Amino acid sequence: MKILVIGGGGREHALVWKIAQSPLTDKLYCAPGNPGTATLAENIAIRVDELDKLLEFARSNSIDLTVVGPEQPLSLGIVDLFEANGLKIFGPSRDAAYIEGSKAFSKDLMRKYNLPTAAYGVFTDLSEAEAFVARSGAPIVVKADGLAAGKGVIIAQTKDEALDAVRDMLSGNAFGAAGSRVVIEEFLTGEEASFLVITDGKNIIPLASAQDHKAVFDGDLGPNTGGMGAYSPAPVVTADIHDKAMQQVLRPAIDGMAAEGRPYRGILYAGLMVKDGELKTLEFNARFGDPECQPLLMRMKSDIVPVLLAVANGDLTGLDIEWHDKAAVCVVMAAAGYPGDYRKGDAIDGLDQADKLDDVYVFHAGTAIKDGKCVTNGGRVLGVTALGNTVKEAIDEAYRGVACISWPGVQYRSDIGRKALNRF
Ligand code: AMP
Ligand code: GLY
Repeated sequence: MKILVIGGGGREHALVWKIAQSPLTDKLYCAPGNPGTATLAENIAIRVDELDKLLEFARSNSIDLTVVGPEQPLSLGIVDLFEANGLKIFGPSRDAAYIEGSKAFSKDLMRKYNLPTAAYGVFTDLSEAEAFVARSGAPIVVKADGLAAGKGVIIAQTKDEALDAVRDMLSGNAFGAAGSRVVIEEFLTGEEASFLVITDGKNIIPLASAQDHKAVFDGDLGPNTGGMGAYSPAPVVTADIHDKAMQQVLRPAIDGMAAEGRPYRGILYAGLMVKDGELKTLEFNARFGDPECQPLLMRMKSDIVPVLLAVANGDLTGLDIEWHDKAAVCVVMAAAGYPGDYRKGDAIDGLDQADKLDDVYVFHAGTAIKDGKCVTNGGRVLGVTALGNTVKEAIDEAYRGVACISWPGVQYRSDIGRKALNRF
């Protein structure tokens, strides 16, 4: 088969790495890809939002299956476009991807279908939003309704901070149109988990459990990022929590989307908050998490291509996914300043040494080749991912990889996976 992966981050490098191992894959492309995907696939210089060019490429190259990594092309309707042209594609339609594209829609869905979630209000009017904050008190959470690359959520410790965030968003200063509507919700405490399933809209196959690290600094301090590291399995997802997540969150969400006339196909990612054996739904994403995808795919034993193809064909019946018993940990190495302004173009040293380590794979995200040398070209630059017999071993192995690699101002968290260890 000829397969096209859309995207150019660490998640897409992991998808390319996994798909390249399938005996079903004859030829693999990645658009736009990155220097990491270029070692396993042919990179095509088309951006993820250039839907017409992607369609033209897929048609003229007789692509048998397209796999979409990021949310933006899904929200723009790439799945609808490809399907209307008779092409097979893995991912939700535009209407289904709205579960991620609008936090207000997603919260209303949760309320309508009785999913456990934080109390909230949705506002476009500043004075109503201000009154809600005044009534609710702090800490309180302010969210831009639309897509904001994982950065549109402000955990406000004081009412003033919340009011500033609300004003910034509603005025369009922060996040542009994505912030013209806000969700304001109750602050939840507990431990987070990323619960991903793959579905054809009826059958649901849960993926292995995972945990992300959203805050930029150790100890979950500092502003939220797209994710600074992830590991799998996540012991916070006990067998009981797993069952509750399936019954209380994923099944009603997928059935609810069908009932709303938005049948859901693809990866559905539920962000969960777990406390005292109960869970609440924080959000839904319409795709693999980045960086959760990196450790998850390293642990996936089954060939992923038949599963992706079955979803694109609309029927997962009879399929299952097997997992390696090992644990996997991904440590994100980021540019100085991320998630704020960051510098690009710094030469990255030590990639060769890290590649020599057994059980370590360095997934590229924001990198580029300049004068024959790999340089930084984004906020999240690399995802150093390792397998180990235990989470502890995988952590040690991943940080051995990290220790090989450097560039001026590199930053990474030194506590990825520690929460898992605290549970043993
Ligand atoms: P979201 O994109 O809605 O998942 O929010 C991003 C991150 O913000 C989550 O992964 C949490 O770390 C945090 N967060 C979101 N909503 C809440 C909440 N109601 N209470 C506490 N933390 C939250
Ligand atoms: N790592 C969180 C996300 O992909 O949204």
